[in-house]
Amino acid sequence: MHSRLTTNTVVFVALLLQATIVRGDFDGNLNYVSPSRRHPSLGIDVPHVSRRSLKRDNIAYAPEDLAFTHGIASGDPYSDSIILWTRVAPSSTSDASNVTVEGPVPLYNHDTEVYIEADPSPICIDWAVFPQDGVNGSTVITSGTAYTTSDIDYTVKVEATGLQPFTTYNYQFTICGSDIKSPVGRTKTAPTADADVSEVNFAVFSCSNYRELTDFISRYSLTTADRRKQMGTSTRTATLLERMSRTFFVHLGDYIYEGGAQGERAHKPPREIFTLFDYRTRHGQYRTDPDLQLASQNFAWITTWDDHEVSNNGYRDGSSGLNNTEDSFLKDGGVSVDQRKMNAVRAYFEWMPIRQVDLDDNLRIWRTFQMGNLLVIHRPSRRLPSVKTDRIYEDWNDDYIDLIRDDASRSLMGSHQENWFYNELSKSSKRGAAWRVIGNQILFSRIYESYGLSGDNWSGYSANRNRTLKHLYENNIGNNVFLAGDSHQNWVSDLVWLDEKEYNPETGDGSIGVEFAGTAVSSTGQNSPILPARTQSQYRVGNNSQLQWQDGYYRGYIFLSVKQDSVEARFYGSPSVASRNSWDLPLANFTVVSGENKLARPVAGGSVESGALRGGETKPSNVTLNTDTWEWDVIGYDQMYIK
Ligand SMILES: *[C@@H]1O[C@H](CO)[C@@H](O)[C@H](O)[C@H]1NC(C)=O
Ligand SMILES: *[C@@H]1O[C@H](CO)[C@@H](O)[C@H](O)[C@H]1NC(C)=O
Ligand SMILES: *[C@@H]1O[C@H](CO)[C@@H](O)[C@H](O)[C@H]1NC(C)=O
Ligand SMILES: *[C@@H]1O[C@H](CO)[C@@H](O)[C@H](O)[C@H]1NC(C)=O
Ligand SMILES: *[C@@H]1O[C@H](CO)[C@@H](O)[C@H](O)[C@H]1NC(C)=O
Ligand SMILES: *[C@@H]1O[C@H](CO)[C@@H](O)[C@H](O)[C@H]1NC(C)=O
Ligand SMILES: *[C@@H]1O[C@H](CO)[C@@H](O)[C@H](O)[C@H]1NC(C)=O
Ligand SMILES: *[C@@H]1O[C@H](CO)[C@@H](O)[C@H](O)[C@H]1NC(C)=O
Repeated sequence: MHSRLTTNTVVFVALLLQATIVRGDFDGNLNYVSPSRRHPSLGIDVPHVSRRSLKRDNIAYAPEDLAFTHGIASGDPYSDSIILWTRVAPSSTSDASNVTVEGPVPLYNHDTEVYIEADPSPICIDWAVFPQDGVNGSTVITSGTAYTTSDIDYTVKVEATGLQPFTTYNYQFTICGSDIKSPVGRTKTAPTADADVSEVNFAVFSCSNYRELTDFISRYSLTTADRRKQMGTSTRTATLLERMSRTFFVHLGDYIYEGGAQGERAHKPPREIFTLFDYRTRHGQYRTDPDLQLASQNFAWITTWDDHEVSNNGYRDGSSGLNNTEDSFLKDGGVSVDQRKMNAVRAYFEWMPIRQVDLDDNLRIWRTFQMGNLLVIHRPSRRLPSVKTDRIYEDWNDDYIDLIRDDASRSLMGSHQENWFYNELSKSSKRGAAWRVIGNQILFSRIYESYGLSGDNWSGYSANRNRTLKHLYENNIGNNVFLAGDSHQNWVSDLVWLDEKEYNPETGDGSIGVEFAGTAVSSTGQNSPILPARTQSQYRVGNNSQLQWQDGYYRGYIFLSVKQDSVEARFYGSPSVASRNSWDLPLANFTVVSGENKLARPVAGGSVESGALRGGETKPSNVTLNTDTWEWDVIGYDQMYIK
């Protein structure tokens, strides 16, 4: 229990203060309009929350009873603004209500303990943005005050505006009227659309299952401030610092998992999640990971959801865990499919540093980030739980997918989003952006597996894929870099329209870009030892002409460096995700030269650490870089996953 201020006078003064401040400032916390201003029924009834806070017996929290429970984060960089995130609460536990005080409620007031046991005391937070490394100086670039309550699980999400483009800033939250401060964060804005930018880097991640390993994202920490400090100030560090100062973190989805994993890193709550409390608790648990906290604190993130943010293989009307029975759609986990989706989406917006985008088109989170004349990042939101996404995939109707995968009317994105996407590709090309980076969730290239084509990536939607390729070829839009996650494996391909455009796998002629699809940062994949894994890779490369490198053994991430004249992709793996470690194994490096629209030859310089490389060699050295000591060593190969 937290103690509260007791004397009536203090309470009275506090109430007066609230009366003057609170009403206007609830809006400063974007999570009160989560997930969108266009959907009042999904937002929180702010006037109601505000009135409730003025009740006579309502007592404010004493600052010392509050804490920053889950670190801080920033994201969705624009050239003049950035989203800042934290959570300030009397406890780490998420709010127990499974409904919110939302929308107009004409006939009854559901703000009663039967529905929701709301905490009426708003918590006041000051936030401020400082120059880089200037947090203790007197210069405040911009600052503000926001409120949070149990209605939004005590999360705080504000937009810091009036910032300079492509500039690194520090930021910090303070509990009002106290010196209780959050850690100091670091973030960076995007360049303006017309700026001349020489280089931008991205650390690209996907599939971060907390369950799979003791340290779920040690790989994130390579790039964190702590590690950089430990490395001292050599030339090498200076180079790395310079590189990191231009880096944004991109998460391609499956940031949380909905299952009820048991074991050493058991999921909380300890069951498959369905209710609002469940999704909030799961997000909270992931944010307790120290490496995730450091990475969130030190870099601006650009995230999107895939399926596990809601439920495995979700589609418009359900997900693969359901049976083809009415009961399973209405009552699985005690909630309907739609209610579960709403719970997941609400918690995602509350807990992630993502902008409130216009959700008019059924929960879309597609958006575009311009990085000067260098590149445009398109973040289509495929496959979510978008009510309009025509995704029909279930484990129990794979055969059905085979019948309809070529149906011209099938669209992974939905027609509204498809139009937006093609338009944006054309616009960025006309604007003269050197590169288009498409931060997509699932594998785009057509890959034949031993069983045929998958229904659970773009191969289940070939008409939509064809339309995308047609748009690129017909409009001469080149320099395209598709990114993907989801599959827990690495796949590098020339981007080609097979059976339509002539393509030469040796030279790469005929392709219109490249695809870099990355493995999971932690989620299990290939459980087999490394050699059988390589045999599978050889088979895949052998049977898919555009696939140039494939590796299914390692967990890891991609470091993508975009310059005017080239894009470089460095794939990293780890010998073990069974411990919290700083081991970083370079797997393969690729270059794309501007205007060539294919992987530079010889692909990967002719040699890779693992997997199978078309026309090249696989030379496993197992020599791993310890990013703490900067020493190379063979270490950690005895165990890949926790038992
Ligand atoms: C919300 O759902 C959780 C289970 O997910 C349950 O434990 C809790 O009691 C529910 N809260 C209310 C107020 O019903
Ligand atoms: C700011 O000053 C405080 C107190 O002097 C110190 O503890 C903290 O580490 C400083 N922060 C930074 C980022 O220099
Ligand atoms: C689906 O059917 C199986 C077997 O009948 C049953 O065990 C399971 O609970 C059902 N799942 C749902 C979500 O209804
Ligand atoms: C996609 O394009 C290929 C090559 O032209 C063609 O063979 C295939 O039938 C097309 N699929 C659909 C669904 O349009
Ligand atoms: C397609 O997606 C499924 C499920 O994520 C995955 O198992 C399969 O490997 C993917 N196939 C390809 C070719 O990416
Ligand atoms: C391609 O797939 C077939 C089975 O469909 C397999 O027998 C063959 O070995 C594969 N080719 C290569 C080069 O791996
Ligand atoms: C990729 O490039 C990095 C940095 O130059 C280098 O350390 C690494 O050895 C290269 N990896 C491979 C597999 O060539
Ligand atoms: C590298 O590690 C793999 C996987 O554990 C092992 O099979 C292989 O023998 C090792 N090779 C070398 C050269 O150490």
